[in-house]
Amino acid sequence: MGTFLIYSKKSGMSPFDLQYHPPPMNVLGIETSCDETGVAVYSTERGLIADALHSQVDLHAMYGGVVPEIASRDHIRCLLPLITQVLGEAGIDKPDAIAYTAGPGLVGALMVGSGMANGLGLAWGCPVIPVHHMEGHLLAPMLEDDPPQYPFLALLVSGGHTMLIAVHGLGDYDVLGTTLDDAAGEAFDKTAKLLDLGYPGGPALAALAQDGDDAAFALPRPMLHRPGLDFSFSGLKTAVMLEVRKTRENGTFAACRADIAASFQRAAVDTLVGRALQAAARQELERIVVAGGVGANKLLRKEVADRFAGQVYYPRLAYCTDNGAMIAVAGALRLADAHEAAEIRAQARWSLATLSPPGT
Ligand code: KG4
Ligand code: ZN
Repeated sequence: MGTFLIYSKKSGMSPFDLQYHPPPMNVLGIETSCDETGVAVYSTERGLIADALHSQVDLHAMYGGVVPEIASRDHIRCLLPLITQVLGEAGIDKPDAIAYTAGPGLVGALMVGSGMANGLGLAWGCPVIPVHHMEGHLLAPMLEDDPPQYPFLALLVSGGHTMLIAVHGLGDYDVLGTTLDDAAGEAFDKTAKLLDLGYPGGPALAALAQDGDDAAFALPRPMLHRPGLDFSFSGLKTAVMLEVRKTRENGTFAACRADIAASFQRAAVDTLVGRALQAAARQELERIVVAGGVGANKLLRKEVADRFAGQVYYPRLAYCTDNGAMIAVAGALRLADAHEAAEIRAQARWSLATLSPPGT
């Protein structure tokens, strides 16, 4: 039921402008894969028109990490009020489609978003779109004024994933490299714990590193000189652990904490950037997208921009970590996959490599 733009001599349009214009759609995005409840409305005509986020950081902080049961219960508590809030901000009674994170993530947390999306879809008679969480991260730069063109290399770095992906088009992904052990975010979080920093560790470690000397400790840059494009962070983590133990034993730990944080951050960033540059060169890609929670790291953003000769794109800081806006925009780009609300889909594990272009 779209509108057709008809070629008219008066308007001066060329016959090549004759194209089908689908009606504008408002897509509600729901993110509940881990410890953030994110909800947003993306209009295919006007872009992002409403966005809200509830972080559970305070709830999990005393446990030093995410407690899945607490995460699910808090999503249940917050999700509907957030949906009511963003629909109000968007000035609409109901959306035209609902996109929700169907995986990967904590299965109980995913089921809250999936159940809500399908329930509302049935009640409102609007279709639902299951979205892959990492594709959401990958597409977050599409929310910016100057989005990347395909093809590009994506460096996806979050709490659960570290991946290098050749993105040929929407849903056309080649996973070039991944981590053999810890994810980049996990390495930041575990190192932060060793340094007595709270959860989540990444931002706290980055803040402490600002006061440190990044050359004070010689830490390894794992895998950088090995063939292939995979990552490994366990060697770096062990090296940090040994330095922490040594400084605790000789009584210099407190004085050295910032130096250890800075040296770790420099080693992790060198590894991520080094591998990304190798991948871009091998694939002859001229654009790099950095996304996912660790993509909020300022040193990483700066180093990729300084060392890569091509164009670098990142989402703004708020859209690096989990949010509803990236799910809403991914849903808008995947409208061809919208289906009747029926099935509550929640996959703890889901490989990005299995995705295909929308409508296929
Ligand atoms: O993408 P995200 O919000 O959740 C997952 O999908 O995992 O990423 C969270 C991860 C955490 O490990 C967190 O410590 C890390 O991103 N992170 C950072 C920074 N901000 C968040 N790591 C380093 N520097 C930061 N500024
Ligand atoms: Zn994420």
